[in-house]
Amino acid sequence: MALTHLHIQNIRNIAEARIELAPYLNVICGLNASGKTSLLEAIYLLGRAKSFRSAQLQKVISRGASGLTVFGQIAGEKEQCIPVGIAWSADKIRMKVAGQPVTRTSDLAGHLPLLLITPDSHKILSLAPRLRRRFMDWGVFHVEHDFMAVWSRYCRALRQRNASLRLAARQMPENVWDKVLAENAQQIDQFRRNYLRGFLPLLAGFVEKLLQRNDISLRYLPGWAQDEDYHESLTRLLERDRSLGYTSKGPHRADVIVEVDGRPAHEHTSGGQQKLLMCAMYLAQAALLKNRTSRQCLILIDDLPAELDTRHRARLMDLLCESGAQVIVTATDKDLIEIPQAAGYRLFHVEQGVFNEQEYL
Ligand SMILES: Nc1ncnc2c1ncn2[C@@H]1O[C@H](COP(=O)(O)OP(=O)(O)O)[C@@H](O)[C@H]1O
Ligand SMILES: [Mg+2]
Repeated sequence: MALTHLHIQNIRNIAEARIELAPYLNVICGLNASGKTSLLEAIYLLGRAKSFRSAQLQKVISRGASGLTVFGQIAGEKEQCIPVGIAWSADKIRMKVAGQPVTRTSDLAGHLPLLLITPDSHKILSLAPRLRRRFMDWGVFHVEHDFMAVWSRYCRALRQRNASLRLAARQMPENVWDKVLAENAQQIDQFRRNYLRGFLPLLAGFVEKLLQRNDISLRYLPGWAQDEDYHESLTRLLERDRSLGYTSKGPHRADVIVEVDGRPAHEHTSGGQQKLLMCAMYLAQAALLKNRTSRQCLILIDDLPAELDTRHRARLMDLLCESGAQVIVTATDKDLIEIPQAAGYRLFHVEQGVFNEQEYL
């Protein structure tokens, strides 16, 4: 899988750009505020139907324009090409896959397994559990075919249970949603455990290569007491949930804590080490996806050189190129990207939102 052709209109300072991407490595260079992150934002929009910088898509549209579009061609395994597109105007989002309109973001995401690393990514390690759940569930979604359906059923039952909890005056003797909730919760928990079992050894391998450490571990918290059946937990906590007005425990509260030497990873590591750790986590996700489904990821790394010394940059570039994934990295200067010998790649220079392919001299 590779994104081959890209056509962008009205994303931040990119009025219009047509870019032919290489199937493996692409390097985007340009000075500050030239449009590097905006390009990654456009690609992210195509794969996730949202921006990683602004909650409101209105802010992403070039000033003075009334809407944005991003169109891409995805080259599949069997030479077939799938056109995908997203447009946003007048508060409405429109998405198309292979010429057909789609309404769910997952329809788009399923076609473009996309991973993004920015200079802020290390915050996943220390901020809210929601970010780590999202990280884990991205992987589960792409390798477990039924995950989306089970998760949707769980969320529907959760909304209904929460609504009934708030109707205190009309309390039901036993919450009728608990059975559906518990069935789907067990499945979600199993999917996640199974995923992390495959993920951890791959992560350990990349951490060893990038950080020369062999003391990485994961602490998975399912979202309710580990030694209790979830249905029993719901029953036990019913009164408390009624007074809170929502379901306090469940897979919607799960977490996965990354530990180094038995302690949360962000507590005793430098900024550069945290960045390398995040890269190891994403490389492990890409490798697991490839092992389980034979599909390749598209990995975007904004400002790859930031925080990294020459040796670690080179090591990271080696691993990215070995992964076989399509990779798009940005930097302020091409000399800060150590391209492995024999790697096929394309280099683009961007200035004021205009991209030009360049020779690597
Ligand atoms: N909605 C917008 N319309 C037009 N330009 C924008 C918009 N939002 C941001 N910009 C500008 O786009 C330029 C490129 O930003 P960015 O892609 O973040 O640069 P880089 O990552 O290369 O440093 C900046 O000058 C920024 O001010
Ligand atoms: Mg930037």
